[in-house]
Amino acid sequence: MPDTRDATTKILGLCGSLRAQSYNLAALKTAGELMPEGMTLEIGSIRELPLYDADLQAKGLPEPVTRLSDQIRAADAVLIASPEYNFSVPGVLKNAIDWVSRVKDQPFNDKAVAIMGASMGPLGTGRMQYDLRKILLFLNANALVKPEVFIGSAQTKFDEQGRLTDESTRKFIADQMQALRRWAQRINGSRQAVG
Ligand code: FNR
Repeated sequence: MPDTRDATTKILGLCGSLRAQSYNLAALKTAGELMPEGMTLEIGSIRELPLYDADLQAKGLPEPVTRLSDQIRAADAVLIASPEYNFSVPGVLKNAIDWVSRVKDQPFNDKAVAIMGASMGPLGTGRMQYDLRKILLFLNANALVKPEVFIGSAQTKFDEQGRLTDESTRKFIADQMQALRRWAQRINGSRQAVG
């Protein structure tokens, strides 16, 4: 079994908000800064995906769907940072997940995933995160359990430039990145072991 402990752990970041000044995009970038050595972040895009339509799918997968699926497959793990909309997963993120779930060898199968979220409400996307966990369960993804990262009252924790100024939140994110690295190595190592 190849030793993956010292290899680079490649993370694909996905943001559930399309807003340029998104707190969740800022949280993703912060995660990239706080990653331990040997871990890298690439941020993917869900913006170009059309609305899911089985008739469109029957004509051939749209290129942005194939691209996103390939990016997920190529990553050692996926980090999803998303707001909570109306107590649940934003439609744009659910739409992206629905599309890639229809791809042959759907890319979330057995994939290590971590979730974080920032909202202006006090619960910091808790309700969204548990709904997203349920969706990932159906896709047979391996969602990291702890540490959870809930960034409530986000408007008080980021400055105008999108820098996360709240030290305890920075620590939670740094700890989650360490845990995600170990989690991805465990999942990917055991996959190699069973072939
Ligand atoms: C929200 N917001 C919100 N906040 C929350 O804590 N719980 C919720 O259920 C909702 N619902 C909701 C629905 C819709 C349609 C919008 C547009 C917003 C507020 C949300 O937390 C806030 O807009 C965040 O700033 C969105 O995240 P980004 O875009 O900054 O990443």
